[in-house]
Amino acid sequence: MADYLIAPSILSADFACLGQEVDSVLSAGADVVHFDVMDNHYVPNLTIGPMVCKALRNHGVTAPIDVHLMVQPVDRMIEDFAAAGASIITFHPEASAHIDRSLQLIKAAGCKAGLVFNPSTPLHYLDYVLDKIDVVLLMSVNPGFGGQSFLPSTLAKLQQARKIIDNSGYDIRLEVDGGIKVDNIAEVARAGADMFVAGSAIFNQPDYAEVIAAMRSELAT
Ligand code: DX5
Ligand code: ZN
Repeated sequence: MADYLIAPSILSADFACLGQEVDSVLSAGADVVHFDVMDNHYVPNLTIGPMVCKALRNHGVTAPIDVHLMVQPVDRMIEDFAAAGASIITFHPEASAHIDRSLQLIKAAGCKAGLVFNPSTPLHYLDYVLDKIDVVLLMSVNPGFGGQSFLPSTLAKLQQARKIIDNSGYDIRLEVDGGIKVDNIAEVARAGADMFVAGSAIFNQPDYAEVIAAMRSELAT
């Protein structure tokens, strides 16, 4: 069986008790903490910055923190999040003037690096940088908000991305973000994804362990 990672998006957590929420979702079986950074410029919403990432580390969170930058410009935030304890940093190629440089900055800071593709962003941004990439993240909604519906066009794009990754010979995760739920996670895995972000599907339920277990059992089918 493939090794799948479940990454709850804390965008849908209760920010009034974020440390407890992250502890709960990790003890419920999550692998990675997905951390959505929105700047009210690249996307029409405003969330959390490096101080909050650092606060989670100070609180005792040792799991990987997957920082999804929806900001423009990108590079300053790379340095700040690396210093704040990020494990993975991904950014949207349209938001960086120099994609290769931004990827190099992430790697030089000791983090895993990735590019994020909006539903309409072509995969050709991968062409000359695959050697610097640890994660390809496909958005299955338009970025900015939790709780949106999965866009079915993502399935064909996942298949394309899976081929590119397999042909490259590099060890690259294929992450998917937006509208992932118990009832579509298996189909999304069949299309090639191996890392699943889920915000509202997990945090809007009273029992996080039950949802994560249901997702894992779908992935085992
Ligand atoms: C959207 C964010 C997502 C979002 C996913 O811009 O990148 O990570 O929190 O939320 P759900 O799982 O509710 O679609
Ligand atoms: Zn995200």
